[in-house]
Amino acid sequence: MQLKTNDNKYGVIRKLNHWTVSIMFISLLAVGFYMADIPASPEKWELYAMHKSFGAILLPIILIRMLWLAFDNKIDNSKLTKLERIGSASLHGSLYLLMLIMPVSGMLMSMAKGYAINVFGLFTLPMLVEKNEALGVAMANVHFYAGNVAAGLILMHVLASLFHHFIKKDDILKRMV
Ligand code: HEM
Repeated sequence: MQLKTNDNKYGVIRKLNHWTVSIMFISLLAVGFYMADIPASPEKWELYAMHKSFGAILLPIILIRMLWLAFDNKIDNSKLTKLERIGSASLHGSLYLLMLIMPVSGMLMSMAKGYAINVFGLFTLPMLVEKNEALGVAMANVHFYAGNVAAGLILMHVLASLFHHFIKKDDILKRMV
């Protein structure tokens, strides 16, 4: 078991991070769209509280993931065509950007609307912005549209890895599993 990425194999920290963030991010997208759509009820507010708590703890996990990239080695992508390399770099870059935009916009939306963020009933985050309805609405729009873009890009990312595995029959998917 190797800690760092090496030639054509991802290191264990990179893999652990990839799958933890993927499961949490996709669950937050699904629950987010669902909870925003259902009528007001105790179940809805319970889902909001869970969504906010998981979203808030995902931010430091994402920051650690990004920090680790600076210390880890690059994966060997020399077998990919130039077009594939450009496609993968821009898709991955956009996903990293959205991984920051989603939790930050969610937190700013809640705080600007005057709602505190209590993480699993354990502690409350300091209010970083004062109540500001216009900022709250702007952040809600960012959260909604960026969520839609993220869902589309994740679908493309999954389809691309399945294409490599089943059609091109290379090891792109295997090296992340
Ligand atoms: C990476 C993390 C996150 C993802 C992927 C995510 C995803 C989503 C999605 C897809 C929606 C539905 C948007 C809509 O239909 O309007 C949503 C709604 C919401 N999210 Fe997040 N979210 C994340 C983090 C957060 C955080 C950290 C907070 C606050 C602490 C938060 C607070 C909310 C709230 C309050 C709503 C309901 C908005 C409304 O009622 O219009 N989210 N989220």
